[in-house]
Amino acid sequence: MKQSVKLIAGNWKMNGSAASLAEIEALRADAGRGEWRVEVVVFPPSPLVERVARAAGGSPIEVGAQDCRAEAAGAFTGCVSAELLHDAGARWVILGHSERRQGLGETSAGVAAKVEAALRAGLHPIICVGETLAERDAGEAETVVAAQVGASLPDSLRDQTFTLAYEPVWAIGTGRTPTPADIARMHEVIRSAAAARLGPVAADMRVLYGGSVNPANAATILATPGVDGALVGGASLKAADFLAIIHAA
Ligand code: PGA
Repeated sequence: MKQSVKLIAGNWKMNGSAASLAEIEALRADAGRGEWRVEVVVFPPSPLVERVARAAGGSPIEVGAQDCRAEAAGAFTGCVSAELLHDAGARWVILGHSERRQGLGETSAGVAAKVEAALRAGLHPIICVGETLAERDAGEAETVVAAQVGASLPDSLRDQTFTLAYEPVWAIGTGRTPTPADIARMHEVIRSAAAARLGPVAADMRVLYGGSVNPANAATILATPGVDGALVGGASLKAADFLAIIHAA
């Protein structure tokens, strides 16, 4: 059955420092009031995963990482495996973010291999897809996103719970968002592409929207049909903004 609780994910990207643990304390204090109707996961940079996991321990806040290497171990200087992240306290991992697909040449086949690694290590994957502005202007957005979904999901997801995130590249960090109708339509495209690839299991997955989600637009976006949560970048860095989004769901 599809998970009906929405998921609010905060992607800190390469931001934050040890001082950001104060933001976790603020989230924790708010969670303690027992009013959250959503699941919340924060994704700090890898060196902070362990400290954030400790700071969040015993609270409903879960912790994830922003990427992992596909291999479990080996001579891969500068890389981090899913197993190491799990050891550090991560339970989730973002894979295929457009800042990695575009900036670091990550392919959908590479993303699928990382999804396998995440499952092997016991991390829940959030798999990101999304079109560029040029692709949208050329009328190719749905084809591009459906192809990314098809190629980024390995067979082993058939008996697993997983999450997809629709993140139009042109909406990330720009303050621009698609209309609710465009978001709803693309989430349908994503669901049918996932079902075509994996079969009925895809009905269980959550599809998040990401790209310039903020306290002002969160309620509308989260109420859009087919939206099972949000992947929040900039607005997840300050607890006050992130809490406003958490409470908008
Ligand atoms: P943004 O980033 O909310 O800052 O646009 C979203 C993301 O990249 O996940």
